[in-house]
Amino acid sequence: MTDFSHRVEQVSISGIREVFEAAGEDAINLGLGQPDFPTPDHAREGAIEAIRSGEADAYTTNKGIESLREAIADRYARDSDIDVDPGDVIATAGGSEALHIALEAHVDPGEEVIFPDPGFVSYDALTHIAGGEPNPVPLREDLTMDPATVEAAITDDTAVFVVNSPANPTGAVQSPEDMREFARIADRHDVLCLSDEVYEHIVFEGEHRSPLAFAETDNVVVVGACSKTYSMTGWRLGWVTGSTRRVERMLRVHQYGQACATAAAQHAAEAALTGPQDPVAEMVDAFERRRDVLLDGFADIGMDCPTPKGAFYAMPEVPEGFVDEVIDRGVVVVPGEAFGEHGRGHARISYAVDVETLKEALGLMDDAYRAIR
Ligand SMILES: Cc1ncc(COP(=O)(O)O)c(C=O)c1O
Repeated sequence: MTDFSHRVEQVSISGIREVFEAAGEDAINLGLGQPDFPTPDHAREGAIEAIRSGEADAYTTNKGIESLREAIADRYARDSDIDVDPGDVIATAGGSEALHIALEAHVDPGEEVIFPDPGFVSYDALTHIAGGEPNPVPLREDLTMDPATVEAAITDDTAVFVVNSPANPTGAVQSPEDMREFARIADRHDVLCLSDEVYEHIVFEGEHRSPLAFAETDNVVVVGACSKTYSMTGWRLGWVTGSTRRVERMLRVHQYGQACATAAAQHAAEAALTGPQDPVAEMVDAFERRRDVLLDGFADIGMDCPTPKGAFYAMPEVPEGFVDEVIDRGVVVVPGEAFGEHGRGHARISYAVDVETLKEALGLMDDAYRAIR
């Protein structure tokens, strides 16, 4: 009998889904990882035009259409002062596929992958799928990842360490000094730094810098996406960039697993990247206002929460039983342990809902908090 592969048997369906299933239909969902804004019209139009003209009918080149890869490179030049060759960009099916091909291309069976704990659920799962060994590391009090912790965790078997800023599930933003350190560590230890920057444009305080800006070797690979910045999670369009030799290896996985990102989505992404950016600024302003409402609410309840400086998540400390109690009252939040052992005692709260809904949810969280205290 054909048995299931060991790699896949080590992975389970995300704990987040279980929480959604436990909640009633009318529940307020503070568990979602997607912005509650429409995809900008000009992005939609980009896809519509490509569909009408027939341009979206066929495979594109494996890396994606040249004009999209140029648009991505232009964004790095304009926003981050980083020189990216459009030839060294692969358009992928979301940031998810980009993370997958990066790990497949760089991790051998038994090699270790270091990532933040709590951290985005895919790092652990994709490490297993690549045959690697997850090495989750705890975070600082403010929920950023300390470069010193990463450096201490590196062994001869380490293939990759993952940096994610702004971060899911914490909303933490690494300082430019930390990013410089991550680059130094990648250079010094000759280990790949995989920098997941899908939230790079959703920053309220501090500054997003990529380790790519600081590295002296080609030991940094960057993952980006339209998903969060342009509220395009359904379009499945992300990318990965790195040195030519690394891109060539990742392309081998992409070519056989995916062939190319969906053509219509590539055209939508190009339009999103090259068109007006005001929808992004408006969305970021709205997230910041909601974050402030949420933090005020936590303070009134008496819950401690490091100030999230980006993305649209907060990770307060919560007492035992809080998550179940809140879900029973009709508010979906995700237990911190869904993101790793060190997430225990926290909950991830996504504020991709309007202020009124957020206030209603805070009232219910207050009731839940009192009920178990
Ligand atoms: C940190 C992080 N990286 C990558 C992704 C994947 O994004 P995409 O929807 O582009 O695949 C997500 C999605 O939630 C995320 O939170």
